[in-house]
Amino acid sequence: MRTQVGIVGAGPAGLLLSHLLHLQGIESVIIEARSRKHIEERIRAGVLEQGTVDILTESGVGERLKREGLIHHGIELRFNRRGHRINMYELTGGKAITIYAQHEVVKDLVSARLAAGGRIVFEAGNVSVQGFGGSTPTIRFQSDGNHHELTCDFIAGCDGFHGVCRPSIPASALTAFDRTYPFAWLGILAQAPPSSDELIYAYHERGFALLSMRSPKISRLYIQVAPDENINNWPDDRIWQELHTRFATDGGWKLTEGPVIQKGITGMRSFVVEPMQYGRLYLAGDAAHIVPATGAKGLNLAVADVRMLAQAFADFYSSGRTRLLEQYSQTCLRRVWKAQRFSWWMTSMLHRFDTDSPFDQRRQIAELDYLTGSRAAMTSLAENYVGLPWD
Ligand code: FAD
Ligand code: DHB
Repeated sequence: MRTQVGIVGAGPAGLLLSHLLHLQGIESVIIEARSRKHIEERIRAGVLEQGTVDILTESGVGERLKREGLIHHGIELRFNRRGHRINMYELTGGKAITIYAQHEVVKDLVSARLAAGGRIVFEAGNVSVQGFGGSTPTIRFQSDGNHHELTCDFIAGCDGFHGVCRPSIPASALTAFDRTYPFAWLGILAQAPPSSDELIYAYHERGFALLSMRSPKISRLYIQVAPDENINNWPDDRIWQELHTRFATDGGWKLTEGPVIQKGITGMRSFVVEPMQYGRLYLAGDAAHIVPATGAKGLNLAVADVRMLAQAFADFYSSGRTRLLEQYSQTCLRRVWKAQRFSWWMTSMLHRFDTDSPFDQRRQIAELDYLTGSRAAMTSLAENYVGLPWD
């Protein structure tokens, strides 16, 4: 089997890359370890930056997103039992975020790829990548009980943080930058109308809480928990109780409860590998970097990477120029590090750290107080949250 670009992983990065390449007349094949059902039901992120919405819309996969996505012009920061709205729309000259679940983006991209005759191999076993240091990159995998080899011009490693592509690069060629945080998020989906029209990021002495949503009938809620927390210690009643406490205001705000339909715990980590390329293997999305979820940047960064990568491949195939491919890592890393900084800052400002002294806690409140009272500070948050301009 042969193709131009072999893509490992059918997450948002791999699928969007394949779609964008197709629009430029470039062939690709996606090799995915899990089933179609699994990737289309995996609950993950939900906040799309303006630029992410634009690229999905402009590339023709934004129809359902436009119909079902919830456009938000602001977010609320809540602390000391009071809410403070940040009007992102006004502060950024008309930009917004859209709430639309990551697995819905995945569904839209899978169906667009398959409708256009695109090839996605689901449930591939023993996936491995070879030859990318020279001129014959190949992806080997098992499917339907047979061994296969896909020969390509380039490999795009879009296989997430635990994939095979990054570890296949000689360790001496990469530098990793890593930070783990001393907490995790317990997230639930609940059959309850969202208790607010906009997202609420809450700082509380018992820890961070986040109110988000998926539709006018489904709430998505998170609380900060210990990094090694066992989900079995959290029956639904306990989760609701904690949410009520952390979101409580003096104004009598009410949190609406409903049946919990999904729950899980996600670790918090910052990670970047440099460079994001080795020979003819290009890493994109979580394969190259992960961010703590507080800034809502993970999915959006994956989209930004493959936007660049698709442009670089298009330039190469149309003119033979390699300049954009050579600059790929450097160009992406500038945005990646700004997103790392923002995600780290939001995380540090809004969570309780066990090691914090009373001084640190007063400082945290002062930071939130300053932020919500300063147009300059709110503008900085807003322009990062809606997404910095493309390079
Ligand atoms: P992924 O979506 O991870 O896709 C990688 C794909 O590669 C997967 O389909 C995987 O099955 C496949 N794969 C892996 N290994 C192999 C292999 N060996 N061979 C073939 N295929 C392989 N971000 C937020 O902003 N907010 C959130 O609330 C949030 N929640 C998250 C919850 C979880 C549990 C996780 C893991 C991430 C979360 N993120 C969140 C981050 C966000 O979802 C990711 O940044 C985003 O999925 C990145 O897309 P990607 O395509 O790079 O990687
Ligand atoms: C959601 C996830 C995030 O990490 C975030 O910062 C905001 C919203 C969500 O799942 O809706």
